[in-house]
Amino acid sequence: MKDKTNLTGLNPENFQSVINGKKTDLYILRNSSGMEMCITNYGAIVLSIMVPDCHGKFENVVVGFDTLEEACRQSKDYYIGAVIGPVAGRILRGTFRVGEKDYHLQLNSVSNTLHSGDNGFHTVVWQARQPRENQLFLQYLHADGEAGFPGNIAVRMTYTLTEDNAFRIDYEAETDCDTLFCPTNHAYFNLTGIGNPTTSIENHLVMINADFYLPTDENTNHTGEIRTVADTPFDFRSCHSIGERINQNNLQLLNGHGYDHCFVLKKAALHELSFAATCISPASGRKMDVYTTEPGLIMYTGNYLPGFTGMHNTTYPRRSAVCFETQCFPDTPNNQHFPSIVLREGELYKQTCIYQFSTQS
Ligand code: BGC
Repeated sequence: MKDKTNLTGLNPENFQSVINGKKTDLYILRNSSGMEMCITNYGAIVLSIMVPDCHGKFENVVVGFDTLEEACRQSKDYYIGAVIGPVAGRILRGTFRVGEKDYHLQLNSVSNTLHSGDNGFHTVVWQARQPRENQLFLQYLHADGEAGFPGNIAVRMTYTLTEDNAFRIDYEAETDCDTLFCPTNHAYFNLTGIGNPTTSIENHLVMINADFYLPTDENTNHTGEIRTVADTPFDFRSCHSIGERINQNNLQLLNGHGYDHCFVLKKAALHELSFAATCISPASGRKMDVYTTEPGLIMYTGNYLPGFTGMHNTTYPRRSAVCFETQCFPDTPNNQHFPSIVLREGELYKQTCIYQFSTQS
């Protein structure tokens, strides 16, 4: 039964539990134009973003779940809606060096580490505080050695549903020992709206502000090459539908089973907040512009979504949702020519990501 107290229809009791001695709950953000977001502090998972279409109809545009149990289960393998960290993406053989020491992470993707392993930020309970209706503060103290990373890392995130209909994420972190740090958000979007079944995102139009992208091998590891998008299916400098070229006989698309690649964003300065991408659903008229302070944007077209059932019996077949993950380039430790993700003791880490919603007919 849909709960009538929130637009999404989630029952808060389904998210109230205790995991590792820490309380979990459902948090609801609203702005004055009627948008709503549901979030649980387990994995800082975004469960819903209710966005109006071009006729003013509100629908959820992210993959989400009815219960904490389901959210835990599916975010474990698919990282649905969660924050990823300390380091997003793959690290070859799960090995890196900071200072004079080598560190070894859990290998959870062939013989490599994906999204910091099975015990990353997406599996911990964040301390949450909601100071106002449209904002949630989330904090986590990542202990030295946790998930294999050095340093006690104090992480703070602010989720804001802005008055102009954006979901804004501000990250901050400090460490007491040099470490690696490069988090992202793993929301799966479908701007037509989550449904039963959720329809393919192949009709979504995308534009990405990138002249280059990072090729991968057959295990989705980065080869270290920085390749031009010109004359390839990775050229999104003008608008293309996701499906237009996704099934081409292109080695990179075959390696990724679709798009699962990092785009090198065009920037005047390395960490300026700038435009990264636009995504439009022609069916609903919903449009999302992505802005980031980070140099990279991973577009992952839900190639491995297996069709499981989520919120209100919605289903999520392969390619029914797309992720736009803002972050530094993946596997930086093994590619010294990529911008560094070392966070030094005493430094203040900052990152901002904005998913801006609007409509066009
Ligand atoms: C990665 C994919 C991976 C997916 C997990 C994405 O960020 O790039 O390769 O399969 O996360 O759901």
